[in-house]
Parts: sequence; structure tokens; C-alpha cells
Amino acid sequence: MNIDILLVPSAPNPDLLIDRAVVVIDVLRATSVIVYAMSQGALEIIPVVTAEEAFQMAKAFPRGSVLLGGERESRNIPGFDLGNSPREYNAEKVKGKKLILTTTNGTKAFHLVSSGKEILVGSLLNVGVVARKCLESNGDILIYPSGDEGSFSLEDTLCGGMLIDLIERKARKPISLTDASRGAQVLYQRFNADLLDAFHLSRHGKELIDRGFEDDLAYCAQIDISSLVPIFREGVIRAP
Ligand code: MLT
Repeated sequence: MNIDILLVPSAPNPDLLIDRAVVVIDVLRATSVIVYAMSQGALEIIPVVTAEEAFQMAKAFPRGSVLLGGERESRNIPGFDLGNSPREYNAEKVKGKKLILTTTNGTKAFHLVSSGKEILVGSLLNVGVVARKCLESNGDILIYPSGDEGSFSLEDTLCGGMLIDLIERKARKPISLTDASRGAQVLYQRFNADLLDAFHLSRHGKELIDRGFEDDLAYCAQIDISSLVPIFREGVIRAP
């Protein structure tokens, strides 16, 4: 089993995705929202790239069955039902609904890796169960931090590093890590007791604090509060 991580997000070489499961991570906040919304009973989540696409797609569903959620520059999108704070996605609002989600980095990432063998949704909220699922699959893995508008993102890399650390510690057979994976693991080990501190140091963490979403940092820093591993397949995220 080999684990690679793309430290700077870009469209991966399709050869890299053949026979690889991909774990998409956007800790602040898209994949944390997805994991939380599914754990609150959302039926499915359709990640789309633009707000216009979201409005268009919503017209195809019966009124009241679908909610629009997401952000631009971390702010709520006018005309949308929900922003991108995980706590907004509680059962009272999302249970039994389809969600159409558009965010700056996270929802795009799913489309960039859509040719992967299996595409898993990862976050700190479900990192332990994602690690177990990767071990069970026993195949090669690409971890895909969604990053920060094409740049390296501290919080996503730390989550990827934690996932690598868990997989390596639980594996019964030796795991081969690329230098990028080893680097992400070492970075995680450096911050391990202080993940929330690291979020405060990150560019995106600071932006969320400026916009009044500081509570989301602590929310998204919770570890293993969900046992769901949502899967992206044919354009839709569902929790098997
Ligand atoms: C993203 O996809 O870039 C994020 O989830 C941004 C955010 O929530 O502020």
C-alpha cells in the first residue's frame, strides 16, 4: 500500500488516480459540513462549482426537497438557504433533504479527482473511520487536501498527516509513503496536541475569525465525532 498526498492542489495526473482511492479533505469547512450534514440525516449532497449551477440544479427538484448551501470568500451566498458553518446543518434543517453545495475549494476538489477508484470524504470529524476504511481497502491512496485557492493549506495538510499517521500505526504490513506523505505526517506530529492552535495560525482560519466564524474552527477541530465515511460517486455524495 502506497500513500501519496498532493500538498498543493491541482488537477492530478489521471495516471495517479488509476486504481487509487482518493480522500478529499477540506477541514475548514466543506468536508466538515458534508460529514456533519450526513450524520444529521441529509439524504445526499451534490457538490457543484458555481452558485449559478446550484440555482439551476435546484429547479430540477420538487420545491422543499432541496436546500442550497455554501460560501464565497467564506461569506453566505445571497439567496441560499444555508452558509458553510457545520452547525447550521442540524437535523432540524437537513434531515431527509438533498443538499446542493458550492464552496470555494472543497466542492471543486471532488470534480478534479472524479476518476479515482473510490472517492472518500475526510475531515477530523471522521478521521479514525476513514483510516480504517483505507486500511480495509488495502490499495493505494491519494490524499487530496483541497487547499486554499490553489495554494498549500495548513489545516488540510494536518488532517492528511493525521490520517497517514493513523494508517501507518494501525497497519499490519509496511506502508510506503512518498516524501510528501512523510512530510505531512511530521507536520501533524509537530502540531498534534494543538490542532486548534494551528487553525488559528492558518490563513483561512484567520479569515474565518475576521468574518465572525471563530466558533467553526473549534467545531471542525473535533476528532472522531462521526463514524460515517461519505462517498462521492457519479456527481453525488452519499453515506453508505
Ligand atoms: C472551501 O471550500 O474553500 C471552504 O469550505 C471555505 C469556507 O468554508 O470558508
